[in-house]
Amino acid sequence: MNSIRMYHILIWLIAGIIFGLLAIKDQSIHARLGNPSELTGYCLLVTIVFLAFFNIRKRLSMLPMIGKASTWFMLHTVGGFFVLAVYWLHTKTIWPTGMYEKSLAILFYLTVTSGIIGYLIQQIYPKLLTQTGVEVIFERIPLRISKLRQKAEETMLKCCNKSGVETLGKHYLDTLQWFFAEPRFTFQHLIGSQRSQQWIQHQDNAVRRYLNIDEQKYLNELSQLAYQKNIIDIHYTLQGAMKCWLLIHIPLTSALMLLSFWHFLVVNVYAL
Ligand code: HEM
Repeated sequence: MNSIRMYHILIWLIAGIIFGLLAIKDQSIHARLGNPSELTGYCLLVTIVFLAFFNIRKRLSMLPMIGKASTWFMLHTVGGFFVLAVYWLHTKTIWPTGMYEKSLAILFYLTVTSGIIGYLIQQIYPKLLTQTGVEVIFERIPLRISKLRQKAEETMLKCCNKSGVETLGKHYLDTLQWFFAEPRFTFQHLIGSQRSQQWIQHQDNAVRRYLNIDEQKYLNELSQLAYQKNIIDIHYTLQGAMKCWLLIHIPLTSALMLLSFWHFLVVNVYAL
């Protein structure tokens, strides 16, 4: 087992022990008819502030004394699950009753969920992109799609002109024109489904039997272009998601911090 893995396990173990101790303390305060919410509440707030501090850490990456980025990342992911456990210990319920508490719960769950989705995106999508076997620059995707569309239209027109029949042309207008117009099958690419490839194969099979040998050569070309376009679509969707998810995670974090501090103030004012 390599040292990074050991380190990872150690951090999970420490987080588990801290949570265990907190849960025991919570029970003992409860048994003495006290209110453990104060202790778990502070713990929750400190953990949320720590997680949110990740943003500041990234901005101060030039300072060497604040630790390695990989260590912060590890602490952040472990802390992300720890905070969920502390939240449930603090609230004693998955879904609270009051309006304000419900808003806080929604924001909290959305922040944690967006974090988990982002984590999965960062772990899975780079591998899926490598599997496509090509490198695509995100900013050049519209140009690449437009070139493929142009080639597909030329191929289709050449076929119609040479054969003198419109079978492939009609088929193109009915199906592939839609496909080449813009990135398609976004949701399917997000979940790693092969639906788009099956769709291209299906369109090929549907028209092939109506074409003669010469026309079939043009269809082969069209299908090849469609498969290339499909790879560009995969890059568009996955790279886009990798770029965009933080634009959801960060604003949710800011809103959560704001509501959490307000909750903290209100509780303390009532306690006075
Ligand atoms: C209350 C809970 C959470 C808060 C307040 C929070 C806050 C933040 C903040 C402020 C950043 C830095 C964004 C930036 O400036 O680039 C961040 C990044 C990130 N968070 Fe969270 N987060 C939470 C939960 C989670 C959870 C549960 C996970 C999943 C395990 C997670 C995974 C990530 C990942 C993968 C990054 C990006 C790391 C990178 O690319 O360097 N977060 N989070």
